[in-house]
Amino acid sequence: GLPERVTIWEVGPRDGLQNESGLVPTEVKADFVRRLLAAGLPVVEATSFVHPRWVPQLADAAELVGLLADDPGVDHTALPVLVPNERGLDRALELGLRRIAVFGSATETFAQRNLNRSLDEQFAMFEPVVARARAEGLDVRAYVSMCFGDPWEGAVPVDQVVAVGRRLLDLGASQLSLGDTIGVGTPGHVTALLQAFAAAGTPVEDLAVHFHDTYGQALANAYAALAAGVTTFDASAGGLGGCPYARSATGNLATEDLLWMLQGLGVETGVDLDAVAATSVWVADVLGRPSPSAVVRARGAQ
Ligand code: HMG
Ligand code: MG
Repeated sequence: GLPERVTIWEVGPRDGLQNESGLVPTEVKADFVRRLLAAGLPVVEATSFVHPRWVPQLADAAELVGLLADDPGVDHTALPVLVPNERGLDRALELGLRRIAVFGSATETFAQRNLNRSLDEQFAMFEPVVARARAEGLDVRAYVSMCFGDPWEGAVPVDQVVAVGRRLLDLGASQLSLGDTIGVGTPGHVTALLQAFAAAGTPVEDLAVHFHDTYGQALANAYAALAAGVTTFDASAGGLGGCPYARSATGNLATEDLLWMLQGLGVETGVDLDAVAATSVWVADVLGRPSPSAVVRARGAQ
């Protein structure tokens, strides 16, 4: 049967906002995070400690963490943040943060475009980050991008993804998030990739899935992963998101759409669907354009 309970890893404030061209005020971002936590989301990825020139929208990462630190209702140290290199780790450690995520690429071209490193060089960049973070007692997640297809290289072989994922786990990451960065995956491909990880000896508990909805397959892909035993699902409130360094990447799977399916299946999340939907309506209003989320549209909120 399906897992009884799953964890939703909310990425709206990070993946959702990183692609927004208009700068969102830091106070609004803090409100977004607070609302998501109040809706019962157990993990809210807050921001990225990357080079501000590469992702200007998240240049206020330290200010955002500072605002959240002032809030007695929020354990800001438990919010994961993206960290590509040692400079990013230093910035996160200075703020007392306890959870980071490194983000690798399954393909050569995207490693170059997103990290200014070759496929091999990315591991050399991550190695000291993961080692130091672990020594400091931090939890380290590792993303793998372009797990299904790459805009420059086309279809990505399953074995290539498994090899990259294994190397990131071997560095000491506790969880891998398998990213369909440009949203081209389909459910059979998801099943095949998860089977390949299982065949390589990776426990399904160590895997999360991260779907973008470019071709409308994100929810079907999530179901395929659920059926394969995955218990951590990345999603973004309102279906916001995309990657500025991946041509044709669109929004993530909407958190409330995932919640609707899981609720119907009787899979527990501990998250309040209505509160997330209300937050998605609010953020669509803040950004000034309609949400791609099916739940938001179905409720006629806009
Ligand atoms: P680089 O230019 O090669 O960096 O960029 P560098 O190491 O050569 O350093 C150059 C300068 O940048 C130095 O300053 C560093 O101190 C500074 P200088 O000495 O010249 O004054 N610097 C930094 N400053 C602040 N914070 C830092 C930092 N690092 C260096 N962390 C780098 C390499 C990795 C930094 C750059 O490529 C970068 O920031 N990339 C981030 C790209 C990104 O954030 N992409 C989106 C997230 S990934 C994603 O969305 C996919 C995902 O959602 C999953 C999926 O969907 O597949 C996760
Ligand atoms: Mg993403």
